[in-house]
Amino acid sequence: MEATFKTLLGYFCIANVVVNAFHPFSTIYSYFHESCDSTWVQFNAAGLQADLKSQLFGQHLASRIILKAVTGFMNNNNPQKPLVLSLHGWTGTGKNLASKLIANNIYKKGMDSSFVHLFVPGLNFPKEIQVEKYKSQLQHWIRGNVTACAHSMFIFDEMDKMHPGLIDSIKPFVDYYEKLDGVSYRKAMFIFLSNAGGESITQTTLDFWKSGKDREELELEDVEIALSLSVFNNKNSGLWHATLINKNLVDFFVPFLPLEYRHVIQCAMAEMKARGLSPDPDVAYKLALGISYGPEYDRFFSIPGCKMIASRLNFFIEAITIPPDSKPSVFRIRFNSPGKKG
Ligand SMILES: Nc1ncnc2c1ncn2[C@@H]1O[C@H](COP(=O)(O)OP(=O)(O)OP(=O)(O)O)[C@@H](O)[C@H]1O
Ligand SMILES: *[C@@H]1O[C@H](CO)[C@@H](O)[C@H](O)[C@H]1NC(C)=O
Ligand SMILES: [Mg+2]
Repeated sequence: MEATFKTLLGYFCIANVVVNAFHPFSTIYSYFHESCDSTWVQFNAAGLQADLKSQLFGQHLASRIILKAVTGFMNNNNPQKPLVLSLHGWTGTGKNLASKLIANNIYKKGMDSSFVHLFVPGLNFPKEIQVEKYKSQLQHWIRGNVTACAHSMFIFDEMDKMHPGLIDSIKPFVDYYEKLDGVSYRKAMFIFLSNAGGESITQTTLDFWKSGKDREELELEDVEIALSLSVFNNKNSGLWHATLINKNLVDFFVPFLPLEYRHVIQCAMAEMKARGLSPDPDVAYKLALGISYGPEYDRFFSIPGCKMIASRLNFFIEAITIPPDSKPSVFRIRFNSPGKKG
């Protein structure tokens, strides 16, 4: 820990000297201030592939489609339309995580980039009565942001809760127009997240498992037909899909499969690692056993997906603060077997 700190400090000092000696102020400014150029916005296909493989568990289909779609789009200097991905699946299966991995491999600042925009209807557009205001606001934002940076990314969370009028207002931007009011949207990326079709994906995955086949053998075709049918027939999601799908504006449907016990274990192990703890299988088993599984009878899939793992892990962790004059605080895992403490 201390060694790392010293090394870091060393780098910082060297960097400082180098910067002060050779760079004019403007370069320093653009070095620290995010701009829409290759210093800050550059796609890393190998990085995306590696991240999907090592961080997104149990989603071989989604990983494959995302990698193909984003790589194809980012390597095309003259796309015909913006890239529109529609991510579907049960709660806690990694839709937001996947969007984050995409952002991390395009923007140096990842989700914190000023070119990445996340909209959550319940948060950003809460009042139905204000929908007209939101519509013009949203169009204004998309226009302003794409004007500032062609490679902007817009993520719409909880798409099934979004007012149809608002979805309508996005439609022109995701269409095949060369330019709209003098602005080209063709290099922008739109990602829609929703739970629509989750039941159908779960059913297909379950049937597949029951027929004795390996989850990884599941192909997009297996999920696609059932998914599009269920999405179209769903009262809540049918509307927005109809407006976007009928015109073929969604480029890729990306199904997220329900997660199994073994994936929950993987999530728990990864979460411990992310917190700087040494991953403990015992803790992972306990965590995975503590959540509920469905559907009825089969109990094969985690109902909250991997969603509660991070917060549940807190129960197993005890922060031990060592007096301020020694090293920074250290975390230790507590085995909370009855009667024992610490
Ligand atoms: N397939 C996965 N692999 C690794 N971690 C996952 C996976 N799915 C979910 N997680 C973890 O679980 C938590 C919730 O995931 P995320 O927010 O991506 O779910 P979601 O699919 O967007 O769910 P919701 O539909 O409820 O919004 C995050 O901490 C995420 O890292
Ligand atoms: C870009 O979008 C954000 C919302 O994510 C908004 O606050 C901002 O005003 C927009 N910028 C422009 C120039 O429109
Ligand atoms: Mg989500």
